[in-house]
Amino acid sequence: MKFTLEDLSKLVYLHAALCETLRLFPPVPFQLRKNKETDTLPSGHEIKMNTDVLISMYAIGRMRSVWGEDCYEFKPERWISEDGQIKYVPPQKFFAFNAGPRICPGREIGFNLMKIIAATVIQNYEVQILENQGVIPKMEFLKAIEDACEAILVGYVLAKCFWKLQKYWTGTAKERTQYTSSIEHTEG
Ligand code: HEM
Repeated sequence: MKFTLEDLSKLVYLHAALCETLRLFPPVPFQLRKNKETDTLPSGHEIKMNTDVLISMYAIGRMRSVWGEDCYEFKPERWISEDGQIKYVPPQKFFAFNAGPRICPGREIGFNLMKIIAATVIQNYEVQILENQGVIPKMEFLKAIEDACEAILVGYVLAKCFWKLQKYWTGTAKERTQYTSSIEHTEG
């Protein structure tokens, strides 16, 4: 099965589920920045020049003041507008890809890859949800996820995504054809 960009743009609920997963489990959970000049944050805190500032995407994704009382719930619906489209959420709020001049340039590619892999997995495997399993993030720079329920699929998707992407982009035209056909014939 091959997917076009148009097919992928119609996968609204999957897109919302991916956003929700990245909100709760950002693969880059924190970033370090240093300010060139003394500055004052909107909160009133003064940050002196050359201070190391650790920004936690993990924490931002779980703040009541940012996401509301249900911030710990996995709710893809929060990303979908009444007319069934993905809501615009500013990158300063949905911070998994960073914001500003250093925003991740691979964001759209990343979403498309995750959708392709998720759709391929869902089509070829029977996915079972393990009951009573917690999601235990590891304190690593690139966050690994254990015992996932909703996140297990996306964790698998991300890992496969980058592995396959690397193989696909660094491969020859022949290898790309083999890769595409291996997706078509994959079985659980
Ligand atoms: C779910 C998938 C992805 C996530 C969550 C993600 C997240 C991020 C984040 C947080 C940064 C900023 C890091 C920093 O400034 O300290 C970043 C930068 C970057 N990302 Fe991604 N990324 C993803 C996928 C991709 C993909 C698929 C590509 C390439 C095709 C990509 C290419 C880059 C590049 C080149 C930068 C550096 C930008 C710069 O330094 O100005 N990313 N990404």
